[in-house]
Amino acid sequence: METVRVELGARAYDVVIGPDLLAQSGARIVPLLKRRRVAVVTDETVGALHLEALRAGLATEDISATCLSLPAGESTKSWPCLERLVEWLLAERIERNDVVIALGGGVIGDLAGFAAAILRRGVRFVQIPTSLLAQVDSSVGGKTGINSVQAGKNLIGAFHQPSLVLADTGVLGTLTERDYLAGYGEVVKYGLLGDHVFFQWLEKNASRAAAGDMAARVHLVKRSVEMKAGIVARDETEQGERALLNLGHTFCHAFEAATGYDGARLLHGEGVAIGCALAFELSARLGLCSQEEPSRVRAHLRDMKMKVDLADIKGDLPDADALLQLMAQDKKVVDGQLRFILAHRIGAAFVTSEVPLDAVHRLLVDALNARG
Ligand code: GLY
Repeated sequence: METVRVELGARAYDVVIGPDLLAQSGARIVPLLKRRRVAVVTDETVGALHLEALRAGLATEDISATCLSLPAGESTKSWPCLERLVEWLLAERIERNDVVIALGGGVIGDLAGFAAAILRRGVRFVQIPTSLLAQVDSSVGGKTGINSVQAGKNLIGAFHQPSLVLADTGVLGTLTERDYLAGYGEVVKYGLLGDHVFFQWLEKNASRAAAGDMAARVHLVKRSVEMKAGIVARDETEQGERALLNLGHTFCHAFEAATGYDGARLLHGEGVAIGCALAFELSARLGLCSQEEPSRVRAHLRDMKMKVDLADIKGDLPDADALLQLMAQDKKVVDGQLRFILAHRIGAAFVTSEVPLDAVHRLLVDALNARG
């Protein structure tokens, strides 16, 4: 069992990482409670797999749980589901001192966290992330919110830090290989953006972790969370350094929009992996890093049997002009300037607004042409 502290003063909290945390949930959560009653939000898929284990864990400390199971999928991050959830929490008489538990992936964590942020002007919440992506990224750092149908993803929300995160690495065993590898896109991102030793470790050990080795999985989640916790502690509201966590994301958001957010074609973490490969290729083309760096990134992603190129996205894609337009709609645009995360080498990324758009355009044209 590993614990990473997110140092945020009065709002500091622990991320506990290891197997069997669902069974220990009662003992871990009870110190937070004023009364032994919690509200659990989950989705139908995760609920069917893990809700009973959570209930049993809570029952060891006589904590009763009232539970709402929402439909699985990105469309749950919406105004109608937020309204349904908040009204349910009020009907269940969840009070200012109670705790809401989010049991699920990024969608449930973001939605339940936002509901907790606005319910009675803010109640505490606990994240129990069940996907690799949620364990290494979305459950840590307090970004919560929903999507706008008109304007795009994650445009409505609040910073609201959880009081505790329980990342049960045992539940990763129920993920499909594709979902696990999509989450791995965010893991590799941490090595690429700030820790070349971790990247080297991943080159050697990530296949073992993907095959189910628990010690390797715990280390991989722990190192990712440590990196995210450090960045969040230094820059909670993304005034500067936190933007590094968006390595590969400006490309990714364009590809997600271009594929209509259709998970059958492209999952977020897959887009992040392709985006990271492109960010390194762009860095090399701009003379910021040697050509060996993007080659090494791509080789590792290939070794992991991940999507690496635009050719790995099935079906039609728009042309380079349209993709560039979609990149310009990214919410990270500041004063109309596209911000990129580029790198001097693996483990040394930086934020810049000074990227010639014709270089990005050429990169996209070449990437699209390589699809044949
Ligand atoms: N997922 C990026 C962040 O939390 O800042």
